[in-house]
Amino acid sequence: MPSSKKAYQVMLRLIDETGTGAIIDLGSGWGNFVIPLAKRTPERQVIGYELSLLPWLISIILKKALGLKNLRLHRKNFYHENLPAASVIVCYLYPEAMIKIADKLKQQQPNIAFLISNNFALPSVKADKKIVLDDFYKSPIYLYKISDLN
Ligand SMILES: C[S@@+](CC[C@H](N)C(=O)[O-])C[C@H]1O[C@@H](n2cnc3c(N)ncnc32)[C@H](O)[C@@H]1O
Repeated sequence: MPSSKKAYQVMLRLIDETGTGAIIDLGSGWGNFVIPLAKRTPERQVIGYELSLLPWLISIILKKALGLKNLRLHRKNFYHENLPAASVIVCYLYPEAMIKIADKLKQQQPNIAFLISNNFALPSVKADKKIVLDDFYKSPIYLYKISDLN
């Protein structure tokens, strides 16, 4: 399920606060977020990881059609990847994934400054910012400093 428009807007605003380095989308899906993100930030490298074939293929077609040279889309399980240096990770996953991501980030200690999560919190870490959307579910968006995980 893609993020809502309200969630995208808040996530884009938070991404603007994370400097100029690369942006990683864990679970980039059909490209609903990663494609507008890459269009909006041509000066930043944007990297998506997506496991499912069809959504990944569609996102690749969109990337090529739009000529987004700053976007790389990997068809890979992000749990098995060494994440590259980046300013920020963004994700919209599910609670169990947040537990695994927290473990991965603690173990791998990648050179990444922030994590922005749509809807799901990291376990046992206080968010640096929490923005509650003005939607039916009052969905939260969390911003974490990765250094707070340790
Ligand atoms: C809820 S969708 C979010 C899509 C997009 N990021 C957005 O915000 O609109 C989550 C996506 O994560 C992908 N995903 C889940 N676990 C994954 C993993 N371990 N590696 C790569 N992709 C994964 C799913 O296939 C799905 O497309």
